[in-house]
Order: sequence, then C-alpha cells, then structure tokens
Amino acid sequence: MKMYGAEVVPSPSELTEFGRRLLKENPDHPGSLGIAISEALEAALSDESTKYSLGSVLNHVLIHQSIIGQEAMEQLKSIEEEPDVLIGCVGGGSNFAGLTYPFIGKMLRKECKEMDVIAVEPVEVPSMTRGEYRYDHADTAAMTPLLKMFTLGYNFVPPPIYSGGLRYHGLAPSLSVLVNEGIVKPMAIDQKESFSAAKLFAETEGLIPAPETSHAIAAVIRRAVEDRESGREEVILFNYSGHGLLDLEGYRTVLAL
Ligand SMILES: Cc1ncc(COP(=O)(O)O)c(C=O)c1O
Repeated sequence: MKMYGAEVVPSPSELTEFGRRLLKENPDHPGSLGIAISEALEAALSDESTKYSLGSVLNHVLIHQSIIGQEAMEQLKSIEEEPDVLIGCVGGGSNFAGLTYPFIGKMLRKECKEMDVIAVEPVEVPSMTRGEYRYDHADTAAMTPLLKMFTLGYNFVPPPIYSGGLRYHGLAPSLSVLVNEGIVKPMAIDQKESFSAAKLFAETEGLIPAPETSHAIAAVIRRAVEDRESGREEVILFNYSGHGLLDLEGYRTVLAL
C-alpha cells in the first residue's frame, strides 16, 4: 500500500475520537474489523473529501464478487466437471459468496445436482456456529444501520489470531439467510489446524496461502480425508481467496510459537 503512495495507519488509531478512546483504555488494543469500520466512518463523516468504500459484509459487495463463481463455472464446464462440494472461508462473507452464490442459484433453481456448501470460520470468532441471528450493527461504535445477521455482538473483540481478515463479529445479511435456512453449512476450524493445512498446501502445491484461505483449505483436507476413508469420489471446489506473501509476519509469529 505504501509502495502505491498510501499512508497506512493501524487501527485503533490516534486519528479518530473512537480510536483514541479505545487506546486510552488499552494501549495494546488488538483492534478488529468492526473497529476499523467505525474509524473509517468517523473519518469519512468528518471530512467532505473523504469517501468510504466497503470491502465486505454488505450484500452488494457479495454480488459484485460473484464473478468468481461465474468464472469457476465456466472453467469447470470446459473440463466437463461439476462440483459436489463448495468450500470457502468467511470473514464478512464476500469471497465465499462470490464463489458460491452463482452455484447456489443454480442449485435452488434445480438446474444442477445438490451440493454441500460449507462456510468456514475460525473457532476463535464463531459468528455462524455460536452467534445469534438478530439485528445488530456492522461496526463496533454502533454507527451503521442495523442489519439482520449472525452476530457475536457489535462490541465483541476477537482474540488476536493470525488470520486478521476473519476477525469480524458479524456475517453478511444474505449469507446469514442461507445459513439460517440450512442451505449453507457453517464449520469452525481453529488456528492450529488451519496453519497445518497451510503448511501442507505450501509443501504440496508450492503456494503459501493467506491465513484466511488456510481455513478453507483445512476444511477441504477434512473432506478429502473423509472421502478417502469412505471410498467416496467427489469434486471439491474451494476459493483460494488470497496468497500469504503479505502475511509473512503472521507466519513468522506462528512459527516462532
Ligand atoms: C485473503 C482473504 N480471504 C478472506 C478474507 C475474508 O473476507 P470476506 O469474508 O469478505 O471474503 C479476507 C479479509 O481480509 C482476506 O484478506
């Protein structure tokens, strides 16, 4: 980001009133996506020339990313395959929805076979598996309108796991509907298992995945092992949401443990 001329400020920051308040309470505050959203909103509201653009959680962002699933569908068509299982990791829900929504649309219209659609979150931030389905704010300072979603509560501060992009208290409203209806099945995987999956993936595929993506990879491995043990043959499609080369600091910390 700095290479492209940006000034980068970790959140919580001294730049906003909300950030200053949190830092006063705890100078080592681990921050969260919800806190960063609140600070970004405060910055945008206090300066006419500042705009705020969302990266996840809101339904239109999820729809925007559905190009991922549309493209995956074309790729699979070209090798005459259809997935039996779809897997992705979930922070606010955008990369997961991006991959799965086009397939779920087809499945609900009965234009393809039934698939297992599995959304993976960290055990440490269990909004889908242990959260409540109710109205809540999307940010920690409670500035956004209320959204109906799975949530751990807008003021939940996730533990500082190495997968920063999954440290979010809520879940996109449209994805929450699908989880609530049982169309998407949630699964929670802990840091240790996701890190082992990242290591195996790096050793076998030669790519270092983002810590977020490692959660999806761990679920793929679980499923493939189940298939191997039961003799079931399946096509498992997952979203490789990002590489880990910008997360080497996180890897360094985990490897040093
Ligand atoms: C590589 C990567 N994957 C997944 C996520 C999770 O976000 P979302 O659920 O919006 O896809 C993030 C968030 O920062 C990320 O950086």
